[in-house]
Parts: sequence; C-alpha cells; structure tokens
Amino acid sequence: MNIKTLILAAGQGTRMRSQLPKVLHKIADRALLQHVYDTSAQLANNDIFVIYGHGGDLVKSQLADLNVTWIEQAQQLGTGHAVQQAVNYLNNDDRVLILYGDVPLLKKSTLDTLLGHVSAHSLALLTVTLANPSGYGRIVRDDQQRIVKIVEQKDASVCEQQITEVNTGILATEGGKLKNWLTRLSNHNAQQEYYLTDIIEMAVNDGLTVISSQPDSEDEVLGVNNRQQLAHLERVFQLEQANRLMALGVTLRDPARLDVRGQFSYLGQDIEVDVNVVFIGTNHVADNVKIGAHCVIKDAVIGENVEILPHSIIDAAVIGANCRIGPFARLRPQTQLATDVHIGNFVEIKKSTVENSTKINHLSYIGDSIVGQNVNIGAGTITCNYDGVNKFQTVIEDGAFIGSDSQLVAPVTIGKNATIGAGSTITKDTPAEQLTLSRAKQLSLPTWQRPTKLK
Ligand code: UD1
Ligand code: MG
Repeated sequence: MNIKTLILAAGQGTRMRSQLPKVLHKIADRALLQHVYDTSAQLANNDIFVIYGHGGDLVKSQLADLNVTWIEQAQQLGTGHAVQQAVNYLNNDDRVLILYGDVPLLKKSTLDTLLGHVSAHSLALLTVTLANPSGYGRIVRDDQQRIVKIVEQKDASVCEQQITEVNTGILATEGGKLKNWLTRLSNHNAQQEYYLTDIIEMAVNDGLTVISSQPDSEDEVLGVNNRQQLAHLERVFQLEQANRLMALGVTLRDPARLDVRGQFSYLGQDIEVDVNVVFIGTNHVADNVKIGAHCVIKDAVIGENVEILPHSIIDAAVIGANCRIGPFARLRPQTQLATDVHIGNFVEIKKSTVENSTKINHLSYIGDSIVGQNVNIGAGTITCNYDGVNKFQTVIEDGAFIGSDSQLVAPVTIGKNATIGAGSTITKDTPAEQLTLSRAKQLSLPTWQRPTKLK
C-alpha cells in the first residue's frame, strides 16, 4: 500500500507576530516545514502533499527543493476542510497520514508505529497525556477504554474538559474511508470549522477500531504557535543532537551549550568541544580535535589533533592535521592549511593556501595568497590584495621570514628563505635568501631640544 502524507500548513500563525509564514520559522536553521518533510521523506512509497495558505508563494519559493505536491487551501475553514483539498489525490487503498507543518520534532519510529495500525478495520491515532490539556481536543473513551470520539476544547462539557489524554492531530487511515468521511463533515460546532477530528466518531460508527499510540516524548508532538515554543523546541532538538554526539564519542563540556545547525559528514572520536560552540552546515571533524569555547565552525574540514582556541570562526576552510588556530582567529572560504600550521590571535585568512609548519601568529591579514612551508609571518603583516577594483595574488615561498608590520602589495612574490625587514612596504618581487627592506633610515639629532612653553 502506498502512503500519502498530507502536511497541513495553511494556518496563519498569528501568535508568532511575524511577517514570515509560521512554517518558515526555523529550528537549527531548517524551516519547521522542512523538518516535517525530512521525517516523512524517510518513509518508503510515500507521496507528500503540503496544504498551504497564508504566505504560500513565499513558502513555495523558499522550499522549492521539496519533492511535494503543493495544494492551496485559499480559505482556512478547519483541519477537515484542509484535508478535503487533497481528496482528488487519494486512492482508496492508500494509507493517508496526516501531519502538521508546525509540529517539527516527530520521529520516524513514531510514524512507523502509527502506520502499522492502519487497516480496513482500524484507524490509527497518536495521542498524548498532558498535565495541562487546555486548548487541545480531548480523547473520549467508553467504559471499556475504547476511543469513541474527539471533542474540541471549545465544544467540550465540563466533565470532558477533565480528560487529560489529548489529540495530537497526527493520524493515519485508509484513503477510501477517509474520502467518504470527509464528504460527511459539517461545521456545526463552536468554531464553525470543519473538524477533521469528527472522522473519529464516524469511523467508530462504521465499525472500525481506533488504535491509539503515544510518542516517546511529549516534545515530539508539540506544535509551534509562538516564539517561546519555537525556542523551547530548538533546545529540545539541540539536546537530542548533543546526546547523539556524546554517544558517538564526543566530549561536550556542557551539552546544553552546543548548537548543531546542520550535519557532520565525518565525526572522529575523542573530540572535545567546550561551551557555546556552534556548528553550521556540513562539517568534517577528525579524531582528537579540540574546540575551545565560543567558536563558530561552518562547512569546515578539520584534521586530526587540531586545536581551535576560543572565539575562532572557521568558514568553509580546510585545516590539516596538528594545526593550532586562534584564539580569535578567522579562517574564511577557500583557506587551506596543511599540517602543523599555527594561526594566532586576530589573524584573518581568505582564499589562501598555507603549507606545513608555517606560523602566522598575530594580527595579520592574508588574502589570495600562496604561502609555502616553514614561513614565519610577523605580527601585523598585511597582504594588500585589492586595489579597489581587482584582486591580486601574493606568493610567499618556503622559509621566508616576514618582519612585523609589513605590507606586501600584490601581485608580488617573496622568494625562498627571503627576509623582509620590519615595517616594509613591498611592491616588487624580492629575491630569495636576501634581506629586503623598504623604510627610511633611522636617524637621531643630538642637538635637538624639546620646545619650551612660550612666555
Ligand atoms: C487541532 C485539533 C485538536 C488537536 C490540536 C493539536 C481539529 C479540529 N482539532 O486543533 O483536536 O488537539 O490540533 O494541536 O483538528 N490548518 C490548516 N487549515 C485550516 C486549519 C488548520 O492547514 O483550515 C493547519 C494549521 O496550519 C496547523 C494544523 O492544521 O498546522 C492544526 O490547526 P490548528 O488551528 O492549530 O488546530 P487546533 O485548533 O489547535
Ligand atoms: Mg484552531
């Protein structure tokens, strides 16, 4: 049997107080709707449909990569009405799974269980028991504990309002039966909406059993209606990832102070991560890497035994084994460091390669450069790679020593084992092995006297 997943995402999300449609708000840099999609896309033989309304064009354009059929619900007349928009796509023997676009943390295992309960004789319903069930539809059971219907909060009697088992909204049922029930919905209720929940009582009347299951944790079925709930689910999601990393052999100084917004293409063992580190995009982190507090690591490849000291930013750079970076270093895209390279505080490197055992330890900007091995770049060195219009390359050959506070005006090549005197502005290629410097000779005036105050 094929699965047809309908993701309901037409609601306005007024309480977010946002210009952005609710389902485009993000957890770990992924839109809420993307989370729901990614989980349901793990199910085999599954066609996914998104019922959209408010801000639909923006949702469709921002999530254009989703392999879904978009169905518009021009007016939001209730969850039943939302599902009605999809009837033409449903076959009688499909298993239809209903998800909400604003419930992002559902697990695939929970969906597997739910779908396993769908048959010609049974409808599957995901319920949860809450300490405070206020606002939710209540699960009404008969004296033999069989589910007989769902009543919405606004339609519930005082007695029904005491029920703490609630409807998560997530359910699965056979397509043919669902289509029949949908034709029988009415909006004669407190909210004058077409409630999808009314199909439960219809199913029971048609002789079906409603089989309920529960998620492992309440957080799986929590929806996002406001920014507090968004922040809560972000932390829940991050803690899950922290636990996963620790299970894989990563030491986290504080699992509550880690953010992973993306994935790891490789994760070695005995990695140590101090507090407030943010991983973004796709990162490769090899064995024994140590990352200090307050680092941002984005789309990076980090080799074995690398140490990244606090407050460093790594953006799309490749760092070879045994390098030491930071504190306060910034590696920008297309930076490639070979092994044993030292990059120190307030050093920015962009689109440059740096060979083995080179040291750039203090306050430098290296851009569009090719730097050889065993080079020592003194404090305050700047490659002047930009004339305001074009960018040019600097080449620093093996063994060169660049004195502090030098400017290398590209295009320029510093020869092998060359030494550049401190404070030089180098505009022409410098020969190998020699000292080159460009600064006025130092002079002292023995007869000079400080001025005195005029009377
Ligand atoms: C619904 C359930 C309630 C359940 C609760 C769980 C009904 C009638 N009630 O109530 O039993 O406890 O969810 O959170 O189903 N949507 C549309 N089009 C619409 C209306 C809603 O796409 O016309 C979407 C919303 O974007 C949202 C989801 O459906 O993702 C649920 O809508 P919402 O208005 O939040 O439902 P509740 O009234 O909370
Ligand atoms: Mg509602």
